[in-house]
Amino acid sequence: MPTAILIDTDPGIDDAVALALAAKLPVLRIVAITTEHGNTDIDRATRNARLIASTAGITAPIIPGAANPLVREPHPARETHGAEGLGFVIPGQAAENEIDGAAEAIIAQVRGNHKLTVCCMGPLTNLATAIAFAPDIADALGPVFVMGGALGVPGTQTPLSEFNWWSDPEAADFVLHANLDLRLVPLDVTRRIAIPGSAIRALIEAGKADQEARFWADALRFYAEFHREYEHFDGCVVNDALAIALAADPSLAQWEEMRIDVSLSDDERRGAVRRSAAGGYATVATRVHAHQVLALIEKCVFSRWLPTGSLAQGAADADRWLAAAASRTIAE
Ligand code: BDR
Ligand code: CA
Repeated sequence: MPTAILIDTDPGIDDAVALALAAKLPVLRIVAITTEHGNTDIDRATRNARLIASTAGITAPIIPGAANPLVREPHPARETHGAEGLGFVIPGQAAENEIDGAAEAIIAQVRGNHKLTVCCMGPLTNLATAIAFAPDIADALGPVFVMGGALGVPGTQTPLSEFNWWSDPEAADFVLHANLDLRLVPLDVTRRIAIPGSAIRALIEAGKADQEARFWADALRFYAEFHREYEHFDGCVVNDALAIALAADPSLAQWEEMRIDVSLSDDERRGAVRRSAAGGYATVATRVHAHQVLALIEKCVFSRWLPTGSLAQGAADADRWLAAAASRTIAE
């Protein structure tokens, strides 16, 4: 029987790839999608989630969520994900203001689905709010896969912190201490899931004749421009797609149990993760079978336009980038 899953997301380019992947995995049954501030504002995130869902054939309800972090200001990542949240894609539908119903939806879905799996691909505001309203759902929940944090690799927001946990560190801290079956998917593993520049260029070619290929080309080439400019990387890292792949098949990674905490400071440690004896328990993905994950993404999302093996290069490119980043850190 497929695993019932609720996806919490802030689309976002890699969120889009992750949703398209989830739609094609027969082992997952999406029961609801909740949206969140993060890569873009809440109205655009919800509009984008609906667009991706309709293209990917997802029929589950999409419920708008938190417009703001628990205590801080929202900080949309427009330089990473574009003015509309999907790179160069200009959605036909305008973003509309809607009422936040995500926490209620999460509570209802947890109560209605035994040991519901949750996959969070944005800041953790919605999940933290749901648990604060209904603490009983903490025990009722199944595994909670969370894309967030960085332990030993460069961050995406500051050199030390990853964007989702930087955006709402108080929510991450709350979730970390909520006694969940937390499966953390940090940048240490997601940075290995890179779509190589060569595949994006092939999608741009395919996009000249095919509207859906053009959607991916327009989204991914913006993301690739960001990676080229800020990280000198030819391609783009689809962090959130790994969280979905692992929710479907945890054996695609190696996991280690640890106690960690998240920094609530206002300096460049904001949102940074470190091991701590007093921290919350998490099962953390520490290694990933990147080739297999990329092959899965390729098969499920891009096989109509890309020949088999087109994404394989991304794993080697990411390894090289991470090795260079590690040697820079040692040299400092
Ligand atoms: C995370 O932040 C966002 O930019 C991505 O969508 C991903 O969820 C990576 O740091
Ligand atoms: Ca995201």
